[in-house]
Amino acid sequence: MSGIEDILANNRQWVATKNAQDPEFFKRLANGQQPRYLFIGCSDSRVPASGITGTGPGEMFVHRNIANMVVHTDLNLLSVLQYAVEVLGVQDILVVGHYGCGGVAAAAANKQYGLIDNWLVNIRDVVRLHEIELLRIKDEQQRLRRLVELNVIEQVQNLAKTNIIQNAMRGDKPPRLHGLVYDIADGVLKDLGINSLDVADELEHIYATEAPHEVDGDANSYEGPNVDPAKEAGE
Ligand code: CO
Repeated sequence: MSGIEDILANNRQWVATKNAQDPEFFKRLANGQQPRYLFIGCSDSRVPASGITGTGPGEMFVHRNIANMVVHTDLNLLSVLQYAVEVLGVQDILVVGHYGCGGVAAAAANKQYGLIDNWLVNIRDVVRLHEIELLRIKDEQQRLRRLVELNVIEQVQNLAKTNIIQNAMRGDKPPRLHGLVYDIADGVLKDLGINSLDVADELEHIYATEAPHEVDGDANSYEGPNVDPAKEAGE
C-alpha cells in the first residue's frame, strides 16, 4: 500500500479505535463544537497543531499559513479569527511559531522564490523593526531563532490591532493572547510570556478604534438622509 490507500486504511483504523474507546465519540462531535483554543501556526508538516498540544477533535480551532502570520488583508485569517472569537467564543488564542521555520529563514535571505516573496515581505517588516537587536547577534542560527520569537511577538501584536480583538477585549470574556515557540529539534513548546493586556495597552494610543454609535440604539431605524423632500423639489 502507498499514498492515499495508506491514508484511508489509517482512517478506518482510527475510527475503529475511537469507537472502541468511546462509542459516543462521533455522535458527540456531530452535535457541534465549542473549542476553547484558536491555534494560529505554521503550515510546516513538522508542527501538527493537535499533536504538539495534546488536544483532540473539538478542542482547537486551527488556522495555519507559512510562518504563522497575522496579516490584516488576509481574508482567510480574519474570517477564522472573527468566527472563533465572536461565534465560537474561544478563550485562548495561540500564535505558535517554530525554530527552524523555512519561511522565516527565506525572509532573512535575499533570494527570490516567486509569489511567496510577497508573503515574506511581512516577515522582512519584522526584521526591519528589530534590525538593531538582530544585528547584535553574531551567530546566524541564534539570530534566526530570535527572529522566529520576534515574529511571533509581532503577530500577537497584529492580533491586538484588529477590531475583532479590540471589541472582544471590551466584552465580558476577553480572550487571552499567547505567543509560543515550538522547537522541532526536541518537541518542546515554549511560552514567550506575552501578556494580552500589556500588548493592548502598548498599542492603544495608535491602534485602538471604536465601533460607530448606533442612532436610537437601533441600526434598522435609519430612514434616509435628513432632507425635506419638499424643499429638495424647490417648493
Ligand atoms: Co515554518
